[in-house]
Amino acid sequence: SFEVVCARSGVTVTVAAGTSVLEALDAAGIAVVSSCEQGICGTCETAVLEGEPDHRDSVLSDAERAAGKTMMLCVSRARSARLVLDI
Ligand code: FES
Repeated sequence: SFEVVCARSGVTVTVAAGTSVLEALDAAGIAVVSSCEQGICGTCETAVLEGEPDHRDSVLSDAERAAGKTMMLCVSRARSARLVLDI
């Protein structure tokens, strides 16, 4: 599992194995607009302020993946213990 900190709302959510960031946020009452929930449409793209995403989407370019400044919350996870998101 890893932690997601929502910088704007100040809420911290733990994302367990088998649960997406999107699902964990939704359970905590933080709505993120989503559509495909399969990492292909780009709707749930969210800016990453701190931490290293583990990209599992089909939207970002290699350069964007390497930069780690944005991620798809429906499928991507974390390599670091904690991500801080701009939500
Ligand atoms: Fe489509 Fe996340 S909802 S990429």
